[in-house]
Amino acid sequence: MGGVLYFMKNKKIIRKITQGMYVLTTQGGGCIVDAVSQISSGDNPLIAVAVMKKNYTNELLKKNKTFALSVLGIDVDPKIIEMFGMNSARDIDKFEKISVSSIEGVNTIDDALGYMILEKIDSIENETHTLFIGKLIEADVLKEGDAMSYGYYQEHKDDLIKVKAKSGKTAWVCTICGYVYYGDELPKDFVCPKCGVDSSLFKKFKESESE
Ligand SMILES: Cc1cc2nc3c(=O)[nH]c(=O)nc-3n(C[C@H](O)[C@H](O)[C@H](O)COP(=O)(O)O)c2cc1C
Repeated sequence: MGGVLYFMKNKKIIRKITQGMYVLTTQGGGCIVDAVSQISSGDNPLIAVAVMKKNYTNELLKKNKTFALSVLGIDVDPKIIEMFGMNSARDIDKFEKISVSSIEGVNTIDDALGYMILEKIDSIENETHTLFIGKLIEADVLKEGDAMSYGYYQEHKDDLIKVKAKSGKTAWVCTICGYVYYGDELPKDFVCPKCGVDSSLFKKFKESESE
């Protein structure tokens, strides 16, 4: 799909949009998301989350009615970010090694500050993402602490995350958003499907650098 090319003075300002860090879960899997926004208030506020079309979680959300957002604190076990943000539930069972509880039929993360359970009421498609809109039907605070912002993750991700390449493969990690591309070579014209930066901002991890 073509589009008009807009020349902007400095697009970096969008990085100043404050976002948090969440594990989005639904029956069958889930992934790390930062693209979450509360869009109404009241007893059962509406919350929107943008999920990439290429993510398995997107497929799951298309067929499931309920999903959860677990809010991550700055002290969260980094393995949770690695498991949910750098692997696909197409390949592994993400819940096997992470402590979870089943609430309203959805797994929530025990090591989170709390969770929100949402009933999917609408979705909006764009070229790369689906915006899923959910109505809050259950929520709880599990512990006190500072929520991890996306900015905090960006600043600390080298310490937080040690990428574990799948056997025989090299991982290329986007230094801006953490997106991982597996393959020996990163195509020259590769553009991060999550945040849109070019291949020069990807860092190569070999298996020997893992864990
Ligand atoms: C810090 C961080 C933020 C992310 N934010 C989003 C997001 O807002 N939406 C999204 O679809 N994917 C996001 N991702 C990417 C997914 O978590 C990742 O692609 C995951 O491996 C998808 O797994 P799945 O194929 O099992 O759905 C983010 C990843 C990281 C590390």
